[in-house]
Amino acid sequence: MLAISRPLTRVTTSSVRRAACVSTWSTVPAGPPDPILGVTEAFKADKDPRKINLGVGAYRDDKGKPYVLNCVKKAEEILTTSNPDKEYLPIAGLPEFTKNAAKLAYGADSAPFASNSVAVVQSISGTGALRIGGAFLARFYPHSKTIYLPTPSWGNHTPIFRDSGLEVKNYRYFDKKTVGLDFTGLKEDLKNVPEKSIVLLHACAHNPTGVDPTPEQWKEISDIFKEKQLFPFFDMAYQGFASGDTTRDAFAVRYFVEQGHQIALSQSFAKNMGLYGERVGAFSLVTESPEEKARVESQLKIVIRPMYSNPPLHGARIANTILSDSALYGEWEKEVKGMADRIISMREKLYNMLSGDLKTPGEWSHIKSQIGMFSFTGLQPAQTKALAEKAHIYMTADGRISMAGLNGGNIEYFAESVNKAVRGDL
Ligand SMILES: Cc1ncc(COP(=O)(O)O)c(C=O)c1O
Repeated sequence: MLAISRPLTRVTTSSVRRAACVSTWSTVPAGPPDPILGVTEAFKADKDPRKINLGVGAYRDDKGKPYVLNCVKKAEEILTTSNPDKEYLPIAGLPEFTKNAAKLAYGADSAPFASNSVAVVQSISGTGALRIGGAFLARFYPHSKTIYLPTPSWGNHTPIFRDSGLEVKNYRYFDKKTVGLDFTGLKEDLKNVPEKSIVLLHACAHNPTGVDPTPEQWKEISDIFKEKQLFPFFDMAYQGFASGDTTRDAFAVRYFVEQGHQIALSQSFAKNMGLYGERVGAFSLVTESPEEKARVESQLKIVIRPMYSNPPLHGARIANTILSDSALYGEWEKEVKGMADRIISMREKLYNMLSGDLKTPGEWSHIKSQIGMFSFTGLQPAQTKALAEKAHIYMTADGRISMAGLNGGNIEYFAESVNKAVRGDL
């Protein structure tokens, strides 16, 4: 009798104890939803056939479909026939890829690249590059633990750098009144930050505004960096994708390097090769000599090893096949230009519709002058809300639209809906 009742009693007691216990995670607060992924969720739930998603920053073709570049498909065929292994990559990634990535950004003739003084590691796309860079600077940059970001900036910059151990502050960048660059504010703020601070710059196609400094303005910015001995950290997530020309889009990076700035650089191949989910990127630092480069790389590896040991293989092989094969490289350049040109043509069309036929109240020339994937339309939160609820058109509440989400089939409906929203007629 006793032998039977004892286990029963034990079960009952432990289940009572478990039920009475508060869960280990009961105090974990629910985090806010990601503002951009939230837009996609709302879009998916909408059943209206006219719906448009302008939230997500991924290229779509003229039919609104995701686009795999032909050069990527060909590179994958080459890779498949070579029957590659699936061994681990080194901590710093595929050496041929990192060399080619640095060459693409800095240019084959740039002094640090030609003298083998660019310390470079493969990264988990642009996000990973920024995170490696943030962690390395938090550990080794001797003069400051603060990074200055433009206002506004890509939403992930602040959490990336905070989680890397840097303090995040801001400098003025965008002028809401002109829907353009606040160049006076930018210069004033950079002149007032402590000497030798770290400053993040979007190399081209500023996200979210689509507003870039002109070459002349970049030169002035470089002079301020010299005067104040600021440390430039370039985020180049859109090389080639902005203007259609990889050299033109690298202007700011190359100019700063020519001027002798020892820059940090984050690169992504998500947009310009359409390798979003493959997570291909690179982080690099300009050093003084091959010997210094080797020391810096050894420490970058020590930053990376406890994070994820080594980076993924497949995407880096694809990118490297394209970057190292002249025929595929030529095809890639054409395809990047094709994507950029389609976006530019959407800007033209939208501008013409709003300011021409529809005579929508307001000034819309920024739609044409902004560059890259995104446009800050100047639409107000109440208008973006009305567009989502009444016209099934989804964008972030700040009025940012991904131009890549517009195409021949939906641009007219979009322009007409914006026209109604601005006039309060939706
Ligand atoms: C400015 C900027 N930096 C970095 C990234 C990083 O993207 P990924 O990690 O997909 O390369 C993005 C992506 O939208 C971006 O807009």
